[in-house]
Amino acid sequence: MKPQLILLGAPGSGKGTQAARLVAELGYNHLSTGDLLRKEIKSESDLGKKVQGIMNEGKLVDDDTVLELLNANCDLGSSVYIFDGFPRNGEQAKALDSVVLKEAKSRAVYFDIDLEKLAARLTNRRTCSGCGEIYNLLSKAPAKEGVCDKCGGELTQRKDDNEETVKTRLQVFKETIDPVLAHYEETGRLAKIDASNAPEEVFSALKAVTEA
Ligand code: AP5
Repeated sequence: MKPQLILLGAPGSGKGTQAARLVAELGYNHLSTGDLLRKEIKSESDLGKKVQGIMNEGKLVDDDTVLELLNANCDLGSSVYIFDGFPRNGEQAKALDSVVLKEAKSRAVYFDIDLEKLAARLTNRRTCSGCGEIYNLLSKAPAKEGVCDKCGGELTQRKDDNEETVKTRLQVFKETIDPVLAHYEETGRLAKIDASNAPEEVFSALKAVTEA
């Protein structure tokens, strides 16, 4: 049985891009706390209204809210998951083990990349509002501007992918990642991959981790 996979990395390091491929080729189920929160905002739920401002500023939503949302959308008895965007700090890392994963086998993969490279990736990201395909105006532009190659859907820019919010998101990442990495290092579950490589190479490295 494949391990539950925990993707760790800065905003823009490529977690979502790789998760989509792992789902398509290896049968994983993608669980992104960012996507779950954006869905709440879109549906204008009470939770969505509560977190909207925090996300637009690039800060972290409180641990209890995110853990509850994650747990409600996760059934380890029926699926093998990719956890993307959770955990974000040491407390979330401990909670993921004790509340969600319990005895399940898991591996964490850190998408290692110089943070300086990420602002350009993020401000040039576009996402299909139909199928969720991720584009980049610099490195993976659609054939027709604003239109998804795969499904013809409209490409949109995330609200938090502007220069100012990106700065905050990268700063928050710098301040919170060390205890997360230490948690997985100490428990012998951490692998690191070079996320500055081309997507194809990053995928090969990730696949090797799932097979190890
Ligand atoms: P979330 O949605 O989790 O966003 P993030 O962590 O900031 O990560 P991104 O989705 O921006 O980046 P990615 O690594 O997936 O990059 P991608 O593959 O798209 O979180 C958003 C917000 O929600 C947070 O700020 C917070 O407010 C809240 N939140 C979420 N989880 C939370 C939690 N657990 N606790 C508290 N709050 C939480 O790639 C980026 C771009 O780069 C794309 O254009 C892509 O085409 C391109 N690209 C990808 N790979 C490569 C490559 N190898 N080479 C060149 N370009 C590449």
